[in-house]
Formats: sequence, C-alpha cells, structure tokens
Amino acid sequence: MVVRQAVGDDAEAVAAVRRVVYPYKAMSAAATRHIITVQSPGQRYLPLVAERDGEIIAWGSAGLTVWTSEPGESELTVFVHPDHRKQGIGSQLAERLHQHLTEVGAVRVRSFVHPDGLEFARNLGYDGTRQMHFAGVELTSLPEQPETPDGIELRSFDEVDPRAAYTADTITALDEPTDAPMDSIEYDRWLEEIWNSPSMDKSLSVAAMAGDEVAAFTIVETDGDRMWSGMTGTIPAYRGRGLAKLVKSVALRRAAASGITSAYTSNDDANGPMLAINNWLGYRRVQTELGLLRMLDN
Ligand SMILES: CC(C)(COP(=O)(O)OP(=O)(O)OC[C@H]1O[C@@H](n2cnc3c(N)ncnc32)[C@H](O)[C@@H]1OP(=O)(O)O)[C@@H](O)C(=O)NCCC(=O)NCCS
Repeated sequence: MVVRQAVGDDAEAVAAVRRVVYPYKAMSAAATRHIITVQSPGQRYLPLVAERDGEIIAWGSAGLTVWTSEPGESELTVFVHPDHRKQGIGSQLAERLHQHLTEVGAVRVRSFVHPDGLEFARNLGYDGTRQMHFAGVELTSLPEQPETPDGIELRSFDEVDPRAAYTADTITALDEPTDAPMDSIEYDRWLEEIWNSPSMDKSLSVAAMAGDEVAAFTIVETDGDRMWSGMTGTIPAYRGRGLAKLVKSVALRRAAASGITSAYTSNDDANGPMLAINNWLGYRRVQTELGLLRMLDN
C-alpha cells in the first residue's frame, strides 16, 4: 500500500470511493478535481490518497480553515473504502495529516465522522457533540411552490452579478451554526473556489432578487442524476417571509425538469429554520455525522 499526494487525475477514482462510503453526499469527479487542484495558498492543503495494486482505496486531506478569523483552525477528512478497513490505512493517513497540520501552525482540528468511525476518531483524541444531519428527497413529489411575493424577482445564478451573490453568501454564512465563524471570506478566493467551481450549476441555482440585492438564494451542485444543496441563505432583513422555501422549491423543480431524480443536503442540528424548510420540502434523514474537535500539541 502506498500513500501519496493526490493529483487532479485521481479525481474520478476518489469520487467513486466517496460514493461508496457516503451514498448520501453528491460530489462529482469534476468537483473533486477542483478541490485537489484549486486551493488558497494560505490553506496549506494536503490531499492524500492510499493506493493498493494501482487502485485508490482511501482519501485523506487536511488544511487550515482560511475562511475564519480564528487563528489556528483546521479541518481533516479521512475515508477508507469498506473493503479495506481495519488494516491501519486510516491511522496512517490521519498521522501524516496531523503531522502536516502541526507543521503549518494548526492549533485545533475539526472533523466530521460517520458513527462507524466514532471509535477510531475518539482513539485519536477527538471529542465533541455537534451533530450534522444528512437528508435526501426524491424529486417526484414536491409540495406546492409558494407564491413569489411582490417586489421579489426570481433569477437563475447565470443572470446574477457574482458580487451580489458573494455579498449574500458571506452575510448569511455568518449565521450558519459552526465551531469557527465564517467571517473572513475574500472575494477573489470565493470567486475561484465557489463561483468558478465546476460543482456549482448556475442554471439551477436560484436567487430571489430585491432590486439589485440578492435577498435569498440556493446553490445547486450536481453529480449525474443527483444534486447537493451547496448553501441556502436569506439575508437577515428578508427572513421569515418564506423566501428560502421559495428559492429551494424553484431550484428542486428546475433540477427535476433537467433530469435530476434525488437531492441531498446537510444541516447542523442547531439549524432549526433550515431543518424546518427541508422537512417541509419532504427531505428525510438518512444519516447523522458527528462533528468532533481535537487540539494539536505544538
Ligand atoms: C435558514 C435560512 C436560510 C431561512 O431563511 P428564511 O427565508 O427565513 O426561511 P423561510 O421564511 O422560507 O422559512 C423558515 C421556516 O423556518 C421556521 N423556523 C424559523 N425559526 C425556527 C426555529 N428556531 N426552529 C424551527 N423552525 C424555525 C419558520 O417557522 C419557517 O417555517 P414555516 O414557514 O413552516 O413556519 C436563514 O435563516 C439563513 O440564511 N440562515 C443562515 C444561513 C444558513 O444557516 N443556511 C443553511 C445552511 S445549511
């Protein structure tokens, strides 16, 4: 077994392993390639793959969290194909990644684990109680689309000025429940990592415009006949008027019309409004992952 740095051409194989491990997430090979090849220099991102007989069987990645003003925050992900578990591969990847994070100045690491991986993570010193619920819906029976309120115009993202989308995304990200506030998102990085990512389908992502301002939006990412909700947000002045329900209803309908059959999303257990919206749309919980933290010895 060889552990080596991932390259863009590994994307297809990595996406295939991810699909087996997380059938409730939807990330295309193109989006995986983007993650491997496009990073902010400050992130010091290290993507690794484990290979056996020329076949990729595991992934590990870690980097500093650059979108927060909190110093020393970092993130780590490890997943191993189910046929290759209990052989020390996850431990080897985690050890290399923790070492890398220590070298680049990380103080605290965040990781989300499947309940199967909880014991593994606890043995590595991870702890915490945050819960991330994953849910899915088949797009055949959606609730009736809400009326569009007066003064609101629906637009697909390919007709939206990226600056207006950036403003709404960064304002609403501040209120997303998390361990490290997303309060430091630079426009150029956002353009490169979010707006220009092949995972964002601009024709299916929807904004509710109030004049030139994005009042609410939902970002659709696609992977074959499945979609993932990248982010849904309503800026504070427009909350509680049904706009998030509206943009997501429209986006799911457009996705269904374009051949997408199922949609997936994740919500923090503390995100009451978004869980209520998704329940109303018919999403049903398929998995809960645990959000864990570990301090690093520097
Ligand atoms: C979540 C968010 C998008 C909701 O936007 P919104 O336009 O106010 O949402 P809507 O008005 O369409 O619907 C809100 C629903 O949540 C319900 N709700 C509001 N607060 C709630 C709470 N604390 N607990 C449970 N339900 C709540 C409302 O009653 C409403 O449901 P109803 O119409 O059945 O009564 C907005 O609060 C936001 O931008 N939050 C920050 C970003 C974020 O967390 N995005 C989701 C990331 S996964």
